[in-house]
Amino acid sequence: MGELCSQRGSAQRQGHMAKKVAVIGAGVSGLVSLKCCVDEGLEPTCFERTEDIGGLWRFKENVEDGRASIYRSVITNTSKEMSCFSDFPMPEDFPNFLHNSKLLEYFRIFAKKFDLLKYIQFQTTVLHVKRRPDFSSSGQWEVVTQSAGKEQSATFDAVMVCSGHHILPHMPLQSFPGIERFQGQYFHSRQYKRPVGFEGKRILVIGIGNSASDIAVELSKEAAQVFISTRKGSWVLSRISEDGYPWDSVFHTRFSSMLRNVLPRAIVKWMLEQQMNRWFNHENYGLQPENKYLLKEPILNDDLPSRILYGAVKVKPRVTGLTETAAIFEDETVEEDIDVIVFATGYTFAFPFLEESLVKVEDSRVSLYKHMFPPQLEKATLACMGLIQPLGSIFPTVELQARWATRVFKGLCSLPTEKAMMEDIVTRNERRIDLFGTSQSQLLQTNYVDYLDELASEIGAKPDLVSLFFRDPKLALKLYFGPCNSYQYRLTGPGQWEGARRAILTQKQRILKPLKTRSLKASPPLPASLLLTVMGLLAILAALFFHI
Ligand SMILES: Cc1cc2nc3c(=O)[nH]c(=O)nc-3n(C[C@H](O)[C@H](O)[C@H](O)COP(=O)(O)OP(=O)(O)OC[C@H]3O[C@@H](n4cnc5c(N)ncnc54)[C@H](O)[C@@H]3O)c2cc1C
Ligand SMILES: *[C@@H]1O[C@H](CO)[C@@H](O)[C@H](O)[C@H]1NC(C)=O
Repeated sequence: MGELCSQRGSAQRQGHMAKKVAVIGAGVSGLVSLKCCVDEGLEPTCFERTEDIGGLWRFKENVEDGRASIYRSVITNTSKEMSCFSDFPMPEDFPNFLHNSKLLEYFRIFAKKFDLLKYIQFQTTVLHVKRRPDFSSSGQWEVVTQSAGKEQSATFDAVMVCSGHHILPHMPLQSFPGIERFQGQYFHSRQYKRPVGFEGKRILVIGIGNSASDIAVELSKEAAQVFISTRKGSWVLSRISEDGYPWDSVFHTRFSSMLRNVLPRAIVKWMLEQQMNRWFNHENYGLQPENKYLLKEPILNDDLPSRILYGAVKVKPRVTGLTETAAIFEDETVEEDIDVIVFATGYTFAFPFLEESLVKVEDSRVSLYKHMFPPQLEKATLACMGLIQPLGSIFPTVELQARWATRVFKGLCSLPTEKAMMEDIVTRNERRIDLFGTSQSQLLQTNYVDYLDELASEIGAKPDLVSLFFRDPKLALKLYFGPCNSYQYRLTGPGQWEGARRAILTQKQRILKPLKTRSLKASPPLPASLLLTVMGLLAILAALFFHI
């Protein structure tokens, strides 16, 4: 696993000295793929269906078919220092968790800084991506696009699929007998924009992902009552961790990742349970995951527990049936007069422009090598980007994926044989199920730091901590015990950035900077007389304690 790619490229499946690359979609994945193509001297062309960049993060009031749709209040669940691209830290004064409009602003300055817009053809939809007849020797693709009603076709040496996976709603209505009778309003969470029109209503939210809990909390301020129905429960984490630092900068360190890997599974699971319950007891709040030893992805919500404590949100089990006006639950309780049901039941994904056999989902696994390459292709000239759900931020993850993919296309890195790739897919999937379980929502789940390191090893950008420790112990300790941020992957190897070391050492500054909006004078020292009084009191207390 994860050996350094051979510069000679002797193995079977390498790209074919690709030059022209088609990038499908100009969301985050598309933008960072473009940049990596340019960095590697490739010639990218990006096709974007809509009129602008940003994908999911470009909020619109109306819901559009074939495009991700978010609610007005979406705030990132990964912090700025853990979410930024590796050679482009977010501006110092940006808050640690960003409103969607602020994140979009970051993507805009990123696109401007690296001059990416000129490669994008807007309002151009990719209809088909087909292997050329001579694919087995050329590795080339025919990409058919449509723009202003006109179809065009062009040949590309490689394709990066960046079309997103939060577009097609997953709405399992068949599991809700009686839904056809229900007289209230019901819709998928992608239709939800803001808490208007829900005043005084009784609302049932189905699901307990990030969207479900955000929407339940937001509506509970306006509604008469909100119920949140969950089959399996979930851990709930606050964005605010130890000492007020962002959760992911505390959770994702190499040190804790190493502990999670080397300690026996049972101990790790027990430790995680302790960690998850530190804020509040999930059992008391009805949220405890059904199988608490699965490392099911936690949701991030700072308000849900308090809403539950106020009674504004009530946690219910699975819905077993609906009547005209009521919801019936697994525990045989009934909630009458439900006005609205929000199905926050997640998404499925598809690539309508690809040959069906290329990206298969079967036996609850996606058949892509390291979540990117279809193993059965004779030439590794197509990669799926961002089709993954890491426990951390997706942005640095896609960036490393793109750095690797572009080097595979160029023939600088090669993939193993089809058989070896298939075996890897199967074992990787078994590990995922052991850790995260089989549920649909966990299909794309991956361990964060491990996966980043693995991708970085492929291109030779993984920092060597041992040798670093002797050269630069201060930096090495930061890498090991500090947040595992993306700058770490710009210290060595191709794409090295001379600002990386500084970015790592000044990270704390950028975390604290947006909080320093009120200058504090140092408090005056305690007067000696007060100190003496306190010490006296302590002495009396101690005396009482030991003599009684
Ligand atoms: C509510 C919500 C909150 C999230 N919060 C976070 C977070 O805080 N941190 C994090 O790391 N991740 C988060 N995610 C995960 C999310 O998947 C990523 O943040 C990221 O936006 C995915 O970007 P993308 O470019 O892969 O896809 P998208 O943003 O969906 O972009 C895909 C683009 O491709 C275009 N396109 C699609 N099909 C075609 C076609 N056939 N032809 C041409 N163009 C096409 C679309 O128009 C779109 O612009 C969140 C997801 C959701 C739903
Ligand atoms: C953040 O929220 C999105 C949307 O629910 C989810 O896909 C992603 O996995 C979450 N990230 C983390 C680290 O929890």
